[in-house]
Amino acid sequence: MKINNKLLSEILSRTEGDFAPFYIYDSEKIRENCRVFYQIPYKNKAVHFATMANINHEFLKIVKTEKINVFVNSLLHMKAVQDAGFNGSEIVFTSSGQNKETMIKIHKAGAQINLDSPNQLAQWQKLFPNEKVGIRCNIGDKVEPYSTRAGFFIGSQSRLGFTIDEMKNIQDKHIIKGLHLYAGTDIFDTNYFLSCYNELIDLSLLFPNIEYLNFGGGFGVSEDGETNFDVKSYGIKVSELMNKASELHKKDLKLILEPGRIIGGIAGYFATSVSDIKDRENQILAGLNASTTQFSRPLLYPETANHPALVIRNGAILDKKDTKVTTIFGSSTYSRDIFCKDRHLPELKIGDIVVFGNGGSYSASSYTEFLGFQKPEEFFI
Ligand SMILES: Cc1ncc(COP(=O)(O)O)c(C=O)c1O
Repeated sequence: MKINNKLLSEILSRTEGDFAPFYIYDSEKIRENCRVFYQIPYKNKAVHFATMANINHEFLKIVKTEKINVFVNSLLHMKAVQDAGFNGSEIVFTSSGQNKETMIKIHKAGAQINLDSPNQLAQWQKLFPNEKVGIRCNIGDKVEPYSTRAGFFIGSQSRLGFTIDEMKNIQDKHIIKGLHLYAGTDIFDTNYFLSCYNELIDLSLLFPNIEYLNFGGGFGVSEDGETNFDVKSYGIKVSELMNKASELHKKDLKLILEPGRIIGGIAGYFATSVSDIKDRENQILAGLNASTTQFSRPLLYPETANHPALVIRNGAILDKKDTKVTTIFGSSTYSRDIFCKDRHLPELKIGDIVVFGNGGSYSASSYTEFLGFQKPEEFFI
């Protein structure tokens, strides 16, 4: 796991004595991750950071200064992005099951909305007759859907979006101004993305007034944080595809992307300390002064979330030469309050600092009050 010296010394300066667990972010890394998206060659584009990955005010401000917009899926997150200075078309709102009041609020904010079903569209048309709108599309089993970390986002097993028949049956096709697709999360296969996008482009020909194609997010980050999806080569390919789509529609279509995880994933760390050791027969059980309710990916995805960890003692990172099989647990009675299982780590002692990496996305934002632990502070360096 990599951590630069600046961040390391910040962690050390904040971890003297008893300290509450906290997040720390490398702001420059967040900026770099924004820039590779902004540099995608296709000109008519907007990149909207998916705020469910991180809704921190300062994080949003960083993203904004890098000319990245936002995508939200709830009114609370819409308020948070407005507070950070995003307005109107800088906000994409894609969700499911929006009620009338939600639609009115999104409309009033001037955000771009993508509706999830024929009934949502009917509701919209009642509220705002003839006003153009986007829809979320389920391209069905036209490509073989990948089951990604959180399940299926397209195909017959996904609950989301208009089915192909539902798209074909839309009466007022002229009011559809954009199509939205989210192929799944944590994907590394550019060809899979492109196959899905091609199907969306085919479907877009059903609608004469298309202005944008929103291809969503889903760009992978490996669990150990060592490998990031190659945005540069993806950018070249997606630009070629958009040129082709624009030619088909005989107009300059807008490309919208909604990267989430990849923007902050490896830029964030969660720092905590060891508060208990149980020496068991085949392994060490180490307790932290923190709970997975404060660092929630291991709680939400116990089978797959596997954050890298480094151990600091007396101001120095311990090397991993002499390791013990270790399970790290949280300071609650909940049986699933487990940060990691059967990990080869240096033999931990009470007072050691443990820093988990790849913690900048879906970690602070999924904090839950369940079990009664405080929301950790977040620092940006
Ligand atoms: C519609 C939509 N767009 C974008 C994202 C961000 O996805 P990721 O973090 O995988 O890039 C999500 C995440 O669930 C989503 O639902």
